[in-house]
Amino acid sequence: SSASLENAFAVLRENDRGTYTVPTKGLYPFQWNWDSCLTALGLAAISQDRAWTEIETLFEHQWPDGMVPQIVFHVPSDTYFPGPDIWQTNRPTPTSGITQPAVAGFAVRRLFDRAQDRHTDRAMAETRSRALLHKIDAWHAWFYRNRDPHGEGLVAILHPWEAGRDNSVDWDEALAQVPTSGITPYRRRDTDHANPAHRPTDAQYDAFVWLVEHFRRLGWDNSLLHDASPFRVVDPAFNAILIRSCADLAAVAEALGEKTLAQRNRAWAQRSLDALDALWHVSSQRYQGFNRATGERIDSRSIGGLLPILAAIPPARAAAIAGQIAAMGEQMHFLVPSHDPGAPGYEAQRYWRGPIWLITNFLIENGLRQAGQTEVADRIVRSSLDLIEKSGFAEYYEPQTGAALGGGRFTWTAAMVIEFLTR
Ligand code: DGY
Repeated sequence: SSASLENAFAVLRENDRGTYTVPTKGLYPFQWNWDSCLTALGLAAISQDRAWTEIETLFEHQWPDGMVPQIVFHVPSDTYFPGPDIWQTNRPTPTSGITQPAVAGFAVRRLFDRAQDRHTDRAMAETRSRALLHKIDAWHAWFYRNRDPHGEGLVAILHPWEAGRDNSVDWDEALAQVPTSGITPYRRRDTDHANPAHRPTDAQYDAFVWLVEHFRRLGWDNSLLHDASPFRVVDPAFNAILIRSCADLAAVAEALGEKTLAQRNRAWAQRSLDALDALWHVSSQRYQGFNRATGERIDSRSIGGLLPILAAIPPARAAAIAGQIAAMGEQMHFLVPSHDPGAPGYEAQRYWRGPIWLITNFLIENGLRQAGQTEVADRIVRSSLDLIEKSGFAEYYEPQTGAALGGGRFTWTAAMVIEFLTR
């Protein structure tokens, strides 16, 4: 069987750079924020020590203001665009200037809980999560201070790369309002490693680059960027991940006797959960985000509206989300497509406009199980392992055929397989 622990471990070992892992060589030769935090969950099956190191390395590069960057450029490489020369963030080790979904609190709690069986693992988990706790708390505080500066209860992303779902249909309208004239000419490198038909378009890249240059002109001052960005979007998935991480961090803090930190994070989670509820969209039976620059609702049937299952949403909403996923399972051979196959904008092979990703499968499965929706959760696990059997450890997969897409030998895909096989 190709969906074996041995094969998954081999992918992690190939991409291990000692104190961090790269998502895959060539296409992504540095450390990525949410890749690393989710990869730590798989690494824990090899070595608890190595798993903690993965997250600690990322947090060594936290900014003084609390932001944890999307990319840490540990070593030079010319196989990726945009590199440190474009970002110019002026950090001791170069980093990009934006952030990514806040899965660290979620990952740390999972490592912490799983370490409870063995005395030595538990002692290590206590020491190492205690040190991380304050750094993750500072990141959460950064989000609410800088990405919800007007106190609405939900945070905005300022760049599609922050969502992790770079070219989702969700951003199409907001991205159309980003100017692209005057950008410095550049050459993409992603299309050297992956089929251009599976990647974002050149027009999208122009807007991605314009935003980077705009923020660079503002000196990467996070107290200015939110109000100055033409792209500021409130995404339900991004917020739900932050909510879950605040709640999970609070649970670990509670276990370690860190009462103030626990209270603060629990309060953030509750306040955002209340605000998230207003994003429920009755006719599409999912959450929908909005463009904070214009106030417009984002009418799109993407996985971003289903991922809030990860947070403690009301049971009726969880059941509706399970129903939406089951309905896609009637249409498609594999679950869970990143965009509804029957909806406008769906593209079966293009990155986040349709293909299946194992990390979103894992996050959704986790949420469904928490909500007691075990049937659909089980189906997602089966689908995930079937995809590996059929096509190996790819970056993402075509929902009908299960064909491998994007980069190969992909770290977080392997980490999620380990999660699915070791519970
Ligand atoms: C990329 O460069 O494609 C990445 O998704 C950015 O995080």
